[in-house]
This record gives sequence, structure tokens and C-alpha cells, in this order.
Amino acid sequence: MTELQQELARRRTFAIISHPDAGKTTLTEKLLWFGGAIQVAGEVRARKAARHATSDWMELEKQRGISVTSSVMQFPYRDAIINLLDTPGHEDFSEDTYRTLTAVDSAVMVIDSVNGVESQTIKLLNVCRLRDTPILTFINKLDREGREPIELLDEIESVLGMQCAPMTWPIGMGKRFRGVYHLYNDSIAFFDPHAEKGTSEIIQGLDNPRLDEVIGDQADELRIEVELVRGASHTFDREAYLAGKQTPVFFGSGVNNFGVQSVLDAIVDLSPRPLARATEHRVVAPDEAKFSGFVFKIQANMDPKHRDRIAFLRVCSGRFERGMKIKQVSQGKSMAINNAITFMAQDRNTTDVAYSGDIIGIPNHGTIRLGDTFTEGEDLKFTGIPSFAPDLFRRAQIKNPLKMKQLQKGLQQLAEEGQTQLFKPLASNDLILGAVGMLQFEVVAHRLEHEYGVECVFEGCNWATARWLRGKDDDIKALLDKAPANMALDGAGDYVYLAPNRVNLQMAQERHPNVKFLETREIY
Ligand code: G4P
Repeated sequence: MTELQQELARRRTFAIISHPDAGKTTLTEKLLWFGGAIQVAGEVRARKAARHATSDWMELEKQRGISVTSSVMQFPYRDAIINLLDTPGHEDFSEDTYRTLTAVDSAVMVIDSVNGVESQTIKLLNVCRLRDTPILTFINKLDREGREPIELLDEIESVLGMQCAPMTWPIGMGKRFRGVYHLYNDSIAFFDPHAEKGTSEIIQGLDNPRLDEVIGDQADELRIEVELVRGASHTFDREAYLAGKQTPVFFGSGVNNFGVQSVLDAIVDLSPRPLARATEHRVVAPDEAKFSGFVFKIQANMDPKHRDRIAFLRVCSGRFERGMKIKQVSQGKSMAINNAITFMAQDRNTTDVAYSGDIIGIPNHGTIRLGDTFTEGEDLKFTGIPSFAPDLFRRAQIKNPLKMKQLQKGLQQLAEEGQTQLFKPLASNDLILGAVGMLQFEVVAHRLEHEYGVECVFEGCNWATARWLRGKDDDIKALLDKAPANMALDGAGDYVYLAPNRVNLQMAQERHPNVKFLETREIY
């Protein structure tokens, strides 16, 4: 094996997805703790608490360092190098989340055992499905009186359309929660909320008399249940998991550290190493010798006054080395990168070397855009970094009309950064912002004021949805002639149809069958 292949075999790059409050932050923190990446539990949750109130979140955003370091966390575990990518899941939920999911090779889905599959889980899972991302499931909060495990598995299967393969099985729940049985290792880990790592004893074998000693009557219940479960559920099939068709399921209680280690071990043992990625013209294998990667996220840096930004680049092939000259394909320009950043759980270090699957941060002054591909020279363009049709629209109204130029520039740049989408209707001078989450507007208003010196308010407007248009020039022109008031250009100069309601959109689609109305658009 070459050095590159060895390094690749060690990499695991994943994100955690969940509905708010299911326990994503807790699990993130515990994974870091079990991985030895943080010494004291509590830090990640403290950050989240601070982020909860919008005003505090803005303060934090001003000091950007914190949110930048927390969005990607690299740490070693066993022989592996783990890259854990954070996806904002709460009110700050935005397109960032979707795009982050394009940069991972697998995901861990956290389900609250009391609430089962919830709305945000479904949304995020649909995004994962676009690329058949393998999903590992952690059913959390077994220390509470939740739903029956078998019922939860049924729900995952029917609502999310994936087979479930239980890897562990819980012994009771709530007050009667005593631990889990590992269906493949034939081991039992007893739950002990007072033990440092959630368990103080692990025994081997379902027939072990120690099982009866520790949990009494529940031992026989467990034996019967395990037999039933083995008969009624799917056995783990790695191929089906890697194809996104089956999810291995683990049970536990994140806050009590219980079941976390099994998840971390499963990431190392079962989850895929960096996968091949599609570009416009060919598929790039992760073990190709030459470096390539794409930018999936841009975040303003520590000092907003300087408009410094960090572009988060996912390495897709080869090896990145400090000082290496790489080409920004969209600009046809090469640059030597001396100051790339690797994000550890608590620090950021200057990157000396990075391999496929790793995420590096490249500081820049706005020259790097979302979706940009970097290579050692080849003209590649990675595909699949999406923009989503927004659900929320606002018209930007400036307080001081003399600052119109700054407003346009600010909105254009923030749109390029992916903070918001910008639409310019052809029939008016309006500047319309589109977002998938309300907080995006607040962030944009805040940043316009602090970084561009423009005060503006966002008014409601009557647009309800947007679609990108694809078709022959003549067909697009026919639509333009018929519905000039609905036509707009987005921040990248692409034609968009704005609709005030679903009926209007549907009618336009029926009248112009040769035009495709796209709900997602890849960034170029
Ligand atoms: P999120 O990032 O998915 O939104 O969830 P987060 O980890 O913040 O967890 C949401 C709440 O659920 C937190 O409670 C957390 O302590 C609790 N929680 C997480 N794992 C478990 C578990 O295994 N069992 C139980 N019973 N609760 C769990 P909170 O009240 O919001 O915060 P706090 O008062 O605990 O700090």
C-alpha cells in the first residue's frame, strides 16, 4: 500500500443529523470526549447554549473563531482519523447544512426514543438520499420512557424508507433501562449512570448466569426478545448500508455516555473511507495521486472588518502539502497555499499535510466562491453542491438611498458566500432575498450593517417560491414574454421564475412544458 492508500484507509468523514433536541450536540461532545479530543464534557453544549439566543449568537459570530472551529473537528481514534462536520440544526438551520452533507462520506442520525422520526430528520435524510449517503442510526434517551424499540424501527423503515439492522438491543427503558445486548459480539454492557463511561461491567454471552444475577427477571425477557428480534429484523449487510439502503441501529443514552463508544467504533469499523466523487467529465477516485477538492462552505473570519473569509475545502484526491501551488479552476489561476488551516476539536493548526477526506480551511479575501474546485492543474468541476429553492423571501429596503451601491455589493458578496440567495426581478429594481431559514435574514442584516456600513430593513413580499429555469433559448424567451413580472436573475445571473403561490407555478409549468423548473440548482 502506498502512503496515500494507508492514509485514506484511516479517514472517516461524517456529519451528525437530527431533529432539534434529539441529542446531536450531546452526542458530538461525547464522541469528542471518547475520542480523547476534549478533556471536559460541557464545552460544546455551552457553545450551543450561547448560540441559542440570537443576540448572543451574533456576538459569537462577531468573534467568528468559535463558530469556525466548531464547524469541523478532526481527531484521531484507534488507528483512524475522524473528521466530524457540524451541521447547524436549530433556528440557524440553513443551506449550509445541506451543503455540508455534500462533503461527508457518511452520516449518523440521532433519533429521540420518545419522539421517533421528526420533521427535520426527514428533511435532512432526503438530502442524504440525493447521494445515497450511508446512515448509521443512534436511538437516544433510552433512560426515558420512550416508544417500543420495535415500533421505532418500523417507523424508520416506513417513514424514511430504509431497512433497519439493529446492532445492539436495549434491555428495558426508562427506569427499567439496564443496558444493551450487542447482537453481533454477543456481549452485554450494563447501564450505570454513575460510571464514568456509562458502564461499569461488560459480560459475554446471553446465557451467562451473571446476566440473571444483575438484572433478575429482565434476563429471561431479554432472551426471548432477542430471539424475536433476530427472527423479525434484518441482519446487517454492509453492502446495503454502503448503498444507503440499510441503516445499522444502536441504542443508548448520550447524556449518560452510554452507547457512544459503540457508535464511534462502528464509524471506524463499518463506515466508508473517502469515496469517489463525480465531476462534470469524470469520476475522481480518492487514491488518485494528484490533489483535488471543492469548497462546500465559506465563513467570514475572525475580523469581519477585513472581510477575511475561510473557505472550507474537502480534499477529494491526492495529498495537500503546505506551500503547494493549486489551481482555482473557475478563475484559471494558481496560488501557493501556505496558511491553510486544520480544525482540531479545540484548536486550529496550520496544515502541513492533508489527504482525501480531510477538510482544510483556506483564508482569502472573497476570491474563493462556494462550489469552487481546486486541482493541481486539471480543469475539473465537482458537481452536486446544491442551492435550494428558498421558502422565505424578503425585499431589501435601504434606509439611506445614497448607499445603494454598497447594498448591492454587500448582497452580491453575501450571496456568493451562500448566506442568502439574491434575486433581481427583470421588471423592477427590487433586490429580493431568498432563504430557507429566518435567521439567515438576521445574519445578513447584521453583516450588511457591520461589514458594509449599510442599514437596511427587510420587508415581506409576495413571492412564495422560486425555480431555476432550464431549456432552449426560444422556450425561455417565450416564458419571458408571457410572464415578465415573474422573471428574475439570481446572484450568478441565472434565470429564475418567481411565483406568488403554488397554483401560479403549476400553471406556468403546464403552459411551458419544454422548460424545466428546477427546485435545486448546482452552484457553478
Ligand atoms: P440537539 O443538539 O439535537 O438539539 O440536542 P442536545 O444535545 O442539546 O440535547 C437536547 C436535550 O436532550 C438536552 O437537554 C440534553 O441534555 C438532553 N439529552 C441528550 N441526551 C439525552 C439522553 O440520553 N437522555 C436524556 N434524558 N436526555 C438527553 P436540555 O434540557 O435542553 O439541556 P440540559 O438542561 O440537559 O443542559
